Amino acid sequence: MGADRAPDESLLLLCRPGFEAECVAEAGSGTAAPASGTGWICVEGDAAARLAQRPFRSLVFARDRFLGQRFSIADPSDRVGPLLARAAAFGPVSGLWLQHADSTEGRSLARLCQRLQGRMEGGLRAAGLLSVASSRRLHMMFLDGASGFIGVSDASDGALWSMGVPRLRLAGAPSRSAAKLEEALIWFLGEDMRAALGSGMSAVDLGAAPGGWTWVLARRGLRVTAVDHGKLAQAAEDAGAVRHLSADAFTFRPARPVDWMVCDVVDKPARTAELVHRWLSQGWCRRTIFNLKLPMKQRYLEVERLLARLRKVPGLRLEARQLYHDREEITVFAERERGG
Ligand SMILES: C[S@@+](CC[C@H](N)C(=O)[O-])C[C@H]1O[C@@H](n2cnc3c(N)ncnc32)[C@H](O)[C@@H]1O
Repeated sequence: MGADRAPDESLLLLCRPGFEAECVAEAGSGTAAPASGTGWICVEGDAAARLAQRPFRSLVFARDRFLGQRFSIADPSDRVGPLLARAAAFGPVSGLWLQHADSTEGRSLARLCQRLQGRMEGGLRAAGLLSVASSRRLHMMFLDGASGFIGVSDASDGALWSMGVPRLRLAGAPSRSAAKLEEALIWFLGEDMRAALGSGMSAVDLGAAPGGWTWVLARRGLRVTAVDHGKLAQAAEDAGAVRHLSADAFTFRPARPVDWMVCDVVDKPARTAELVHRWLSQGWCRRTIFNLKLPMKQRYLEVERLLARLRKVPGLRLEARQLYHDREEITVFAERERGG
């Protein structure tokens, strides 16, 4: 994270409520897990300094992060003035993200954030603190109506969306899972690889029904073999070059290697990881996006163990993340280098 760190700064990490302990485990020692369900953790001291140096993309459970300090406002009838005064200390920023945790309590602050956005941006502009040339974003995260954290993040090493919450429009998708794959493609692939995704490419979708993931891929022009004993929705069948096979995801193997294998089967994470390991090490697919459903206990350790095993496949690039659209699961992207 490019932003220089002042001694009294904390590192704020937002996560899915209920996954604070995983976020803390990822942050390393020196951090106490807050009560489960808050949707954020605050890392201080050396652990904050260490974690600020880690690429944001290497974190699985953090949806958003920034370096900042606590604020509290004595008179909630004037929040803008005191916050603008605090913002000035951070220098010019390219934009402002007004935020709250994704907990029930946090979401009750969404309207306050919406109300303040325009006035706060106007104040920053008037003070010469908004500049397109700046690589830093300003975060103001409210914990309640009068207090929170204010800080900055490096736009090139942070979340793509404020609080890690994408706004995706997928009208006509056969299932809500479609948003999960769409978010994964945006997060993991980057613009160039996404633009290249399309006709001429083949994909296998394991555990495809009712067909949200198949629909996302077929609409982009890929030829999709959708494997599931369940039925596909008509929208998925009609989305493009789709072939439905009633077969078992764990024993199916493609007649020839495919560009993509995606897998959203609900099963034990170790079993899914083993399946993916087979596909990658046998060279049955070049790239994959798959979900690992998390166990009830030792979620962080299990994720670490399974990802470590996959990373042993030679020539593999792998990234994992608990996406906004993930629930008790994480999404993993892996790609074999050419010749790998
Ligand atoms: C979460 S749903 C997939 C949703 C899908 N990705 C979508 O976007 O609509 C999981 C699917 O995995 C399928 N499934 C579970 N075990 C399977 C197996 N051994 N072989 C094939 N499909 C399986 C289920 O039938 C179910 O349709």
